[in-house]
Amino acid sequence: MFFSQKKILGLDIGTSSIKLAELESGRRGLTLNRFAIVPISPGLVAGGEIVDSAGVTAAIEMALRQAKTKRKHVATGMWGTSVIVKKISMPRMDENVIAEQIKWEAEQYIPFDVNEISLEHHILKSMRSGGENMDVLLVAAKQEFVFRYLETVEASGLKCSCIDVAGFALANCFEFNYGITGEITALLNIGAGVTNFVVVDRGEIIFSRDVAVGGHTYTSDINKSMGVSIAEAEALKISASMGQEVPEEVNSVIASTNDSVVDELRNSFEFFSATTGGASIQKFYVTGGSIYVPGLVEAVSKATGIPFEVMDPFLKVDTNHRAIPPDYLAQIKPLAAVVLGLAMRKVGDS
Ligand SMILES: Nc1ncnc2c1ncn2[C@@H]1O[C@H](COP(=O)(O)OP(=O)(O)OP(=O)(O)O)[C@@H](O)[C@H]1O
Ligand SMILES: [Mg+2]
Repeated sequence: MFFSQKKILGLDIGTSSIKLAELESGRRGLTLNRFAIVPISPGLVAGGEIVDSAGVTAAIEMALRQAKTKRKHVATGMWGTSVIVKKISMPRMDENVIAEQIKWEAEQYIPFDVNEISLEHHILKSMRSGGENMDVLLVAAKQEFVFRYLETVEASGLKCSCIDVAGFALANCFEFNYGITGEITALLNIGAGVTNFVVVDRGEIIFSRDVAVGGHTYTSDINKSMGVSIAEAEALKISASMGQEVPEEVNSVIASTNDSVVDELRNSFEFFSATTGGASIQKFYVTGGSIYVPGLVEAVSKATGIPFEVMDPFLKVDTNHRAIPPDYLAQIKPLAAVVLGLAMRKVGDS
């Protein structure tokens, strides 16, 4: 081959840590060769916005040193307030005139100035046939936020080949591992600051929204109710989640925070149904560091009446055991879905 292969890394900039993953594609499929996770201080990334660009760049540099990768190109994902994903219905039209029309449509649906946003669209295939209308997924990000991501990532010496949406990367990782299922399936990545909530149907993303609840909601509630520091509150939460002995108040704060977090998540299930003509989710998969919060996932299942399964992002991904020993793999499993979905983006492409 004479063309160069641009192999990429996945880079997930989260609220509590930066994750970096390198996949190698071979005859037997994908292998995870390198992985790094670097915690970041609270406040550097908030609601999907990079607040402290220099601080995040430093964390990315540290992740690169840890991973010892030679790759220079990355796919990263935006989320939260920096990006909006919305399904709209518009009159059926030729694909080549859609882009222009989309801009007008976006003006009605997107609360940003259309001249200051990057806009993309995906026509939903499952909805393509028949009818006078077609469904289109609009993805809009304020250019200012896109530039901030670019600037922050590229200051570490990397080149951004792809700026994705975290929820889409989650769906990508799911599809790679589980294939295209016949059920309408929700994917919940319950992180620290956010829960990425995505619904897939026959291999297509039909809904994506980031809900502003996650592990930090618990830490912050423990901090407020018990008057302990954020770091202590975080440690108490983790101990409680691992079944260790903690003051009774920790468990009662977690239980009451569960109620409000579950309410928020149930609202998303209901919002999905209300905006999709009553379509019902048949199953949901969970991932993210906060799936270990005692009682949380079970309560979401109870409140929605929908069964769940814990997603395994490595179901069909091999690992290089020398670089990633089994106990380390077990630790990163709930944290890796988005970064793997990003790392899968262009693996092997020219
Ligand atoms: N054993 C555990 N028990 C309870 N919570 C945990 C445990 N391990 C990690 N967490 C929580 O998971 C969160 C980190 O998960 P994750 O790495 O998925 O989030 P993130 O990607 O940094 O954040 P976000 O996706 O919200 O931007 C933290 O809030 C952390 O407290
Ligand atoms: Mg995350």
